[in-house]
Amino acid sequence: MTTPTQLTLTRPDDWHLHLRDGAAMASVVPATAQQFARAIVMPNLHPPVTTAEQAVAYRDRIRAAVPAGLKFEPLMVLYLTDNTPVDEVKRAKDAGVVAFKLYPAGATTNSDAGVTDLRKTHKVLEAMQREGLVFCVHGEVTDSEVDVFDREKAFIDDKLIPLRRDFPELKVAFEHITTKEAAQYVSEADHFVGATITPQHLLYNRNAIFMGGVRPHYYCLPILKREEHRVALVKAATSGDPKFFLGTDSAPHASHLKEHASGCAGCYTAPCAIELYAEAFEAAGALDKLEAFASFHGPDYYGLPRNTDAITLVREDWVVPEELPFGETVIKPLRGGETLRWKMR
Ligand code: NCD
Ligand code: ZN
Ligand code: ZN
Repeated sequence: MTTPTQLTLTRPDDWHLHLRDGAAMASVVPATAQQFARAIVMPNLHPPVTTAEQAVAYRDRIRAAVPAGLKFEPLMVLYLTDNTPVDEVKRAKDAGVVAFKLYPAGATTNSDAGVTDLRKTHKVLEAMQREGLVFCVHGEVTDSEVDVFDREKAFIDDKLIPLRRDFPELKVAFEHITTKEAAQYVSEADHFVGATITPQHLLYNRNAIFMGGVRPHYYCLPILKREEHRVALVKAATSGDPKFFLGTDSAPHASHLKEHASGCAGCYTAPCAIELYAEAFEAAGALDKLEAFASFHGPDYYGLPRNTDAITLVREDWVVPEELPFGETVIKPLRGGETLRWKMR
C-alpha cells in the first residue's frame, strides 16, 4: 500500500484525558479542543471530583477555557472512593456524568483518596450497572511486593475477573492498557468491556525510558512495557475490534516536577495526539483502521452519537514545540523538539 499524503477522518474524541484545573487547565484545554470534539475528563484533581455537583462546576470551568470558535464537550467522570454514597450514582446520571473512575489507592497521580477494597463499593457498582454508567478502571494492583511491570496482569487476575463475575453487565472501560495479557483479555471479553490505548504505548517500549540516560518524559503509569507488549497493543488497536479505542491519557505535569528526584508519572501528548496515533498506525501499515479506532469505537461503546464533522491530516514535517506555557510554569510535550511526519491542518 502506498502512503496517502492526506487523510480525512471523522473528528475523533479522546476517551481518557487529564486537564487539571485553574491556570494549568486553561493552558492545556485549547490543544485538545483543537483536535477532539469531546473528551472523558479524568477526576483526579486535588481534592478529587467525587460528587455530581463538583463535576458540574468543573465542567463549567473547562467550558470557559475553550477558545472562541472551537466546539468542545467535556464528558465528566466521578472519582470513586470507599465512601461514595449510592445516591451519587443517580445524581451523576441526572447531571450528565458518564462514568465513575476506579483509582486503586496509591496506584498513580492523586490516587490517595482511591478505593482500598472494591468490596466496599459493591452497592455503588450495583447502581452503576443498573443506570448504565461506565466504570473506568486504572487497572493496576498496588501491593509493593508485586513487580511494577506485572501490576496490570495481576489486576486482571485478582480484581477484574472477580469484578466482572460479580457485575457481568457493568460496562468496564479498562483504561490505558499496556500488556499483551490486557489486550487478550479485552479481545476475548463481551461487549460490556472496552479499552483505551495511549499513543506512547503504541509507539514505545520500556527502552525509551532509559535511552542514553533516564528520560522522565517517557515515564507514565502504567509504565511502558517490553516490545512484545507494544506489538500486541498495536495489533489490538489496528484489528478493527470495536472494544479498542483512542484515549491519550495526556497527563500534563510541569517540567520541573517531571525532571525531579521523584518525577511525576504522565506524558503530555495533547499538542500532537492524533499525529502520534497516525504515526503508529502508519508504521503498522494500518492507516485505514485509524478512523474507526479514533472516531467510531469510543462513542459506540459509551452509547453516544458519532461526530459528524471531519479533520484532515497532511503528510508534512513539523517540529513539536520543545516547551509550552503551563499556568505559571512550563511543560514539555512528548516528542518536544522532534519532527513529526503528520500534521493536523
Ligand atoms: C496520570 C496523571 O498524571 O494524572 N498519570 C499517568 O501516568 N497516566 C494518572 C493516570 O492516568 O494513571
Ligand atoms: Zn491511570
Ligand atoms: Zn490517566
